[in-house]
Amino acid sequence: MQIFNGKAALKDYLKSIKTSNSTIGFVPTMGALHQGHLSLMQQSMQENQATVVSIFVNPTQFNNPEDLEKYPRTLEEDVKKIAALNPEIIVFAPTVEDIYEGQTVSESFDFDGLENQMEGKFRPGHFNGVGTIVKRLFEIVEPTNAYFGEKDFQQLQIVKKMVAKNNLNVNVIGCPIHREPNKLAMSSRNARLTPKEKEEAGIIYKTLLEAKAKFENNSANAVTNWVKKSFEKNPDFQLEYFQIADEKTLLPCLKKVKNKKYRAFIAVFVNNIRLIDTISLN
Ligand code: PAF
Repeated sequence: MQIFNGKAALKDYLKSIKTSNSTIGFVPTMGALHQGHLSLMQQSMQENQATVVSIFVNPTQFNNPEDLEKYPRTLEEDVKKIAALNPEIIVFAPTVEDIYEGQTVSESFDFDGLENQMEGKFRPGHFNGVGTIVKRLFEIVEPTNAYFGEKDFQQLQIVKKMVAKNNLNVNVIGCPIHREPNKLAMSSRNARLTPKEKEEAGIIYKTLLEAKAKFENNSANAVTNWVKKSFEKNPDFQLEYFQIADEKTLLPCLKKVKNKKYRAFIAVFVNNIRLIDTISLN
């Protein structure tokens, strides 16, 4: 199995295996791999001659130092999981120094307002950090196709926007959310939940499903108020936001417009662990 810790060696290797009509698939991750990540790798392996997976906990996208410190780091286990899936997958696990070269700061991006909603509102600077790392990784790997999970739907739209605005030559492919048996969206942060918290966190998707049903005959505002009230009754969960938004612009739905696609987005804290989820509403 090929594992690279430095960008120069990875670039040389990719150059050596690239042919005029081969494609490279890329799955960027922050490690603590779960079935959702593995399914992105599987899809990439099916659709490309070579697949690169990056494992890098990117410091510039964390607005909360405690979240960065506690983010699970399980490189050895991650490598084992990738090897078991397919030993041909190429792993890139760089150091912070290799990526940031002594300047651990974000570039500043304009994502046409997508960055000001939801995650962007509650995690200031987060999307500048995501844009910075994804752009740098794209420059190193030069992928043909890059795979992102739809759980981070706002991130997916932002990466697509960055690619379009910078004329980057990469197809950004969104892939379905993978869920635990209780329908909790799979996330690296779930590793920090106790078994009881994990079981109870099934309430998040259950609430999204009920919100979806209610949205058929109620306004976005009425559904949002219902969600807020439901969480108020449940002191183990702190709702950070629930927003029904236009799927393209991510602007809040103030009045339903026929033929527009809407999506509900939610962020909830369970014992200081932040979980997000999303559902398409129509
Ligand atoms: O979704 C993630 O895990 C991260 O935001 C990403 C895309 C790997 C960038 O650090």
